[in-house]
Parts: sequence; C-alpha cells; structure tokens
Amino acid sequence: MPTPDPFEAKVALVTGATSGIGRELARRLARRGAAVVATGRDPEALAAVGREVAGAVRPGIALAMDVTRDDDVARAVAEAEARLGPVDLLFNNAGVGYFRDGWELDLERLGRVMDVNLYGAIRVTQAVLPGMRQRRRGTIVNVASVAGKRGYPRLAGYCASKYALIGWSDGLRRDVEGDGIGVTVVCPPAVDTPFFDRAGYGTYRQDHAGIPMMSPGDVADGILDAVAAGRREAILSPRARALYLLSVLAPGALDLIQRRLKKPIPRAEFRDVEP
Ligand SMILES: NC(=O)c1ccc[n+]([C@@H]2O[C@H](COP(=O)([O-])OP(=O)(O)OC[C@H]3O[C@@H](n4cnc5c(N)ncnc54)[C@H](OP(=O)(O)O)[C@@H]3O)[C@@H](O)[C@H]2O)c1
Repeated sequence: MPTPDPFEAKVALVTGATSGIGRELARRLARRGAAVVATGRDPEALAAVGREVAGAVRPGIALAMDVTRDDDVARAVAEAEARLGPVDLLFNNAGVGYFRDGWELDLERLGRVMDVNLYGAIRVTQAVLPGMRQRRRGTIVNVASVAGKRGYPRLAGYCASKYALIGWSDGLRRDVEGDGIGVTVVCPPAVDTPFFDRAGYGTYRQDHAGIPMMSPGDVADGILDAVAAGRREAILSPRARALYLLSVLAPGALDLIQRRLKKPIPRAEFRDVEP
C-alpha cells in the first residue's frame, strides 16, 4: 500500500501566499490534498491564489491578512479555523528585503522590516499555537534565508531580521518539543521572485550574473521535503550548504574568496520603497 502524503487532509496556513515562494507553496499543498488558507495583502493576487486553492482536492480559501496587524491576524486565523478547522501547519513565509549598507540603515524602516520578517512570524504563530498545544499536534515552518546564516554586503538589516528569525525558531523548538509540535526553519539562497524588485533592487540579476537563482517552485518543494522529513533546519541548495560550511570552518578563507570574486554592488541602483 502506498504511504499517505503527509500533507493530505491537513489544514495549512501560508502567509505571503500572493507571490513567489508562498504562492508555489499554496499550489503544491493544495495539489497534495491539504486544505489551504492562502493569506496576503494584495487583493487581486489574493483572489487569483484563492481560485487556485478553492478548486483543489480539499477546497481552500484566501483571506486578507497583514502580518504586522494584530487585529488582521486574529480575525484571519479565527475565520480560517471556523471554515476549515484547526490549523495543522503554519508556513511563516511573508517577508520583505532591505538593501542598504549596515551603517546607513534607517531605523524606522528597519523596524518595519522586522515587523514583517520577525514579529509577523511570531504574531501569527502566537495566534495558532495555543490550539496546537491543546491538540498536542502541529508544525510551524519559518522561511528564513541563507542571509540568516551568514552576512552579505548591503543586506545587514535583512540579515539581522533573518538571524533573529532563526534564533527565535531554535528557541521555540525547544519550548514546544514536549507538546508534540515541530518547528522547521528553512534557508533558501537567492530565488527568482519579485522580492528584489519589491525591495528596490531591480538590477539584482545583472549584478549577480552567473550566480544561480532557485525557482520558487523548487524552493517550495525543498520546504515541503524538509517538513515531511521533520527537519529542524534546511539550507536549500548544495551550493548554499557548501558556502555555509566554509563560512563556519574557514570564515577567513571565504571572506578572501568573496573579496576577490565580488565586484561592489553599485549603490545608485537602490530605490527606497515601503515594505
Ligand atoms: N527571493 C529570495 O531571493 C529569497 C531568498 C531567501 C529567502 N527569501 C524569503 O522567502 C520569503 C518569500 O519571499 P519571495 O521571494 O517569495 O518574495 P515575494 O515574491 O516578494 O513575496 C513576498 C510575500 O510576502 C508578502 N508580504 C509582504 N509584506 C507583508 C505583510 N505585511 N503582511 C502579509 N504579507 C506580506 C507579500 O504579499 P502581499 O504583498 O500580498 O502582502 C508576498 O506574498 C520571504 O520571507 C523572503 O525573505 C527570499
């Protein structure tokens, strides 16, 4: 008899499901028999992903939810659970970039980035976790980044948010391990989504020609594999894993290689955009 799909008949809430990785996650979960709650802010994109998950094996729904708003999060989680049942799997995927030198970060803007990338994940988790703990079942999946494992130029603010997300995930895992709840944190490398344009770095691809980008579909597959395997952390490409290992074992050597290989990123190409 074939083993059942681990996502079959599960209620899966995805944040940032209107674009990129989140949208691919929602599609794949729906195809694999989960009842998907796709959330985000953009009403048109939300309607589109809503049509996709509604027509799935187990009809899902799309709900407007800004992860920086307590009232939005409480309302969306309550509506999701009333319509589809308790959330089994939470994918904290909503995130925004911030490209600036570490010494010139605007603290107000950095606060807004933190509010999405770190507090947003904590906020939504706090809304679903009491129910999960009562049922002694559930999985929290946090989409961090390789920028949460080592520093990158002009990404200090974003790195800070993703290092913090990984640190919080690591602590949370220990806090809930006795409650039957799993925590998985995933670290994709650069992914071909609107992420860079939205963060005001429209020339990312030109500046990093030759450096491979993953497709959002492959990242979504990697995330679901990591969750199915009960992994605590997954760095999602062999190249990123090798670089991370090098950064731990021989950080000086990696710095040297990067200094030799990398041309400086042209500063004029950044636009200031609201997260
Ligand atoms: N692309 C990369 O190279 C890369 C690499 C590593 C990790 N990541 C991480 O992967 C995750 C997904 O990124 P992506 O590449 O798929 O980017 P994307 O295509 O720009 O999607 C980002 C998603 O986050 C949502 N979002 C932003 N602010 C939000 C808020 N306040 N409330 C709710 N949703 C919000 C957006 O939805 P709305 O605009 O509809 O709200 C959108 O659905 C992020 O956490 C990112 O940091 C990306």
